[in-house]
Amino acid sequence: MIAEIQKRIKEASTFITNDPKELEKFRIEYLGKKGHISSYFAQFKKVNVSEKKEYGLAINELKKVTHLKLEDLKKSLNAKKNSKTANKDLTRPASMLELGSRHPISIIRDKIIDIFYKIGFNISEGPEIEDDWHNFTALNLPEHHPARDMQDTFFINKNPDLLLRTHTSSVQIRHMENNQPPIRTISPGRVYRNEDISARSHCFFHQVEGLYIDKNVSFADLKQTLIYFTKELFGNSKIRLRPSYFPFTEPSAEVDIYWGLNSETDYRITKGTGWLEIMGCGMVDPNVLENCNIDSNEYSGFAFGMGIERIAMLLYQIEDIRILYQNDARFLSQFKNSI
Ligand code: PHE
Repeated sequence: MIAEIQKRIKEASTFITNDPKELEKFRIEYLGKKGHISSYFAQFKKVNVSEKKEYGLAINELKKVTHLKLEDLKKSLNAKKNSKTANKDLTRPASMLELGSRHPISIIRDKIIDIFYKIGFNISEGPEIEDDWHNFTALNLPEHHPARDMQDTFFINKNPDLLLRTHTSSVQIRHMENNQPPIRTISPGRVYRNEDISARSHCFFHQVEGLYIDKNVSFADLKQTLIYFTKELFGNSKIRLRPSYFPFTEPSAEVDIYWGLNSETDYRITKGTGWLEIMGCGMVDPNVLENCNIDSNEYSGFAFGMGIERIAMLLYQIEDIRILYQNDARFLSQFKNSI
């Protein structure tokens, strides 16, 4: 019997595995309730008195060896788990992080902002959920004014009146309410109109509107600013101003840029004229200044507004506005190099 225990001691001390399941099997075989050690203990009473001491020592030895072995193997298994990198080449250069690209609308918006920033315009922002005063009434569009229909509006609530802003002119009202001239500000942001979604229009889009108020501001200042802007953005300053109507400006104009007729696409997008409309503008109506507590006898100014999508579509030759909102990585990754 003692010889058998000695054999087990040898077995246990030479046992080796790197498989956690095997190790568990070993533990159960030796230390489990029905394992070797408890069965040797159970047989203790059958052992001759003369051998009892030696027998007891042998079992204790087996127990100690088994425990030590278990500890040892557990440690080396854990060490292996934690050193998964051990076989890797740590000098190898890391793989590059895949860089994303900026959205074309952000790219164009920032270009426009930069151009005006250079000539002293600051940036103003405001809420997308607006009230009637800032979106319409203060802009010389009192209730029931027919020109309200020019921009199909998403109304949210009647009382208090809340709506989704139809243009960022509302931000300019807020800016004038809180600042006295001289004012030079541009307001980029998302706007909403209740229009059918098609290749050319969407129920929301982005605008940049500009406002310049000071003493003696004239239409010539507006025109010169537009020439500077179109030269910077399109590399082309051939523009024309067509008389138009906006309730908040008087006189008002629409700005066309000469796009040229060099390709079939040019013929199509300019309807054969070579000219493309890019924005609306005009001299701020004195009523609007008065609504914002700015003395219209002392100050005058100009305003303009453009859609970012429209300009992005022209510059990047995008045929369908909807692709701008689909977040298709195949489309977006094409803008990696345009900052
Ligand atoms: N607010 C006008 C629009 O959204 C654009 C505009 C701004 C026109 C300023 C003239 C002056 O269509």
